[in-house]
Amino acid sequence: MTQSVDLPSSNSISHSPKKDEVPQKASLNLLKDLLPFLAKYKMRMGLAVIALLITTAITLSFGIGLRVIIDEGFSKGSAAYLNSVLLVMAVLAFVLAVATIFRFFLVTSLGELVTKDIRQAVFSRVVKLHPSYFEENRSGEIMSRLTTDTTLLQSIIGSSVSFALRSGLTMIGGLTMMLITNPKLTVVVILAVPLVLIPIIVFGKKVRELSKKSQDRVASVGTYAGEMIQQIKTVQSYHREDYEINNFENEVEQTYQVSKQRILYRSVLMGGAIFLSFIAIGIMIYVGGSDVIAGRMLAGELAQFVFYAMMVAMGVASVSEVMGELQRAAGATERLMELMNVESLIKDADQPIDKQNSQNGTIQFKNLTFNYPSRPDRAALENIDLTIQPGQTVAIVGPSGAGKSTMFEMLLRFYDPKQGEIVLNGFNIKDWTLENLRSNMAWVPQHPILFSDNVLHNIRYGNPQASTDDVIAAAKAANAHEFIEKLPEGYESYLGENGVRLSGGQKQRIVIARAILNNPNILLLDEATSALDAKSEQLVQQALDRLVESRTTLVIAHRLSTIKNADKIVVMDEGKIVATGTHSELMQKSELYNNLAQLQFMTSGQ
Ligand SMILES: Nc1ncnc2c1ncn2[C@@H]1O[C@H](COP(=O)(O)OP(=O)(O)O)[C@@H](O)[C@H]1O
Ligand SMILES: [Mg+2]
Repeated sequence: MTQSVDLPSSNSISHSPKKDEVPQKASLNLLKDLLPFLAKYKMRMGLAVIALLITTAITLSFGIGLRVIIDEGFSKGSAAYLNSVLLVMAVLAFVLAVATIFRFFLVTSLGELVTKDIRQAVFSRVVKLHPSYFEENRSGEIMSRLTTDTTLLQSIIGSSVSFALRSGLTMIGGLTMMLITNPKLTVVVILAVPLVLIPIIVFGKKVRELSKKSQDRVASVGTYAGEMIQQIKTVQSYHREDYEINNFENEVEQTYQVSKQRILYRSVLMGGAIFLSFIAIGIMIYVGGSDVIAGRMLAGELAQFVFYAMMVAMGVASVSEVMGELQRAAGATERLMELMNVESLIKDADQPIDKQNSQNGTIQFKNLTFNYPSRPDRAALENIDLTIQPGQTVAIVGPSGAGKSTMFEMLLRFYDPKQGEIVLNGFNIKDWTLENLRSNMAWVPQHPILFSDNVLHNIRYGNPQASTDDVIAAAKAANAHEFIEKLPEGYESYLGENGVRLSGGQKQRIVIARAILNNPNILLLDEATSALDAKSEQLVQQALDRLVESRTTLVIAHRLSTIKNADKIVVMDEGKIVATGTHSELMQKSELYNNLAQLQFMTSGQ
């Protein structure tokens, strides 16, 4: 009778105190957020309800059949009558079976459909969120919402709700039939109801608390395992496997302890409900039986009444059971809706300028100051003023942590500045639509990560319309063609999760090929050749040289060759621009540049 599913679900992404204050009782209200998702499937729900009504009506009618068989068939010894009643019941059983098929199919697939829609809706929101959201929230928890929370909803919409409806309907129908059959006995039963319900309510609350706790535990087990898998090589290199196994055992054990308690309460709850129900039924049979003996009631009538009373009792037990499930569904809904209602901090302007691109646009950083949200008291960029003319190549140099990569992230508008602005082609980048702004740029990040797909997909990501020939041409230009050809299936080779099957330098060349294929107005290269050996670097450098000719290029570089070709070199330190000029100018006037030049550019080849 139980349809419980012990699915994990992360509890709170933001660990906001608000969450803990949400009162338990209010939470069923949260289910109304599901209505818009259900509304689409009115037809399906309507049919399911019809099927449900049919099955309930037939199930209830069996009570009458029971009475008829006992009172008319047995008592009067009429075999013919018994046969015809059985025939009718056989037909009804067949209809019941058919209606059950429909009901089950419709309701279960409804669960799947709604889950599909919710997943899609949540994902569409998540993909458009501002990147800092993912710095503040753990990706494992966001993923667990998309998978476990939606799966929980699926099983609840697809089974528990229908179970509750079925039980509820049976209860109402059974009660009505009881009243019709024998009002006096019904009163006896109704008086016994609180006896059954009160312990159920008390225990039910405890079960719900524990079930929430156990979901949190399961989420934590998942997060732990996920992290270890990501870090597997670190774990093994320090031979900490046994240590991690021990730790994990603890996690799992704690989870089990919580679940054990919950299951214990739940078992007692179920057993208690059944026991109390039967006591109530016992009283009823005693009262009813006395009436039969005294001749005030027929045996079949009592049988019919007991039949309905049992159905009602089972209905009560299962409805209370499902209430717990619904609470969990409410919790899952809340978490999903919370994720869906996060507003992206980086959005299109209300009235964006009507421009397609910034061809030959000037880029200006104007008195720009920026803090990463997670470091509010430390400026990653401070009072940056920089103008880049169309077609220029500007090299940014500086020690690690100077804020070079952050400059690119600002230009791509992954974050908005705290103060100042970036102006592209005469307009604040906030006035461009994100699409128009970013379609101007191709970015080769410092630590490229590939999609777990094949080479073709990864390069074509820069331009989905590109033909395979274009992709190969781009790969050749990025000096990647040669090694791609040697992969087991060439361009069709699957690269593993995050591209684990490639070396750092190979990943970098794939990402450069992607940028080449994109053919942007503005190229952002973040230490794009840092992971390459001297020989392939030279080759990629030539490709990049061709690439930078026709467009505005910002390059974070540590090789003299790149820097020497730049129209302008910007020296950064601790979030500030400390000097700008050409190589020879800077060698004259910037001590930091001198140091960098000696330590970095000179020693690393060229
Ligand atoms: N996502 C982030 N959240 C918080 N701080 C960050 C983030 N990314 C970079 N930082 C910090 O901002 C500063 C500048 O970083 P970055 O621009 O990556 O330096 P660079 O590229 O010059 O090595 C560093 O102090 C770094 O620790
Ligand atoms: Mg960097």
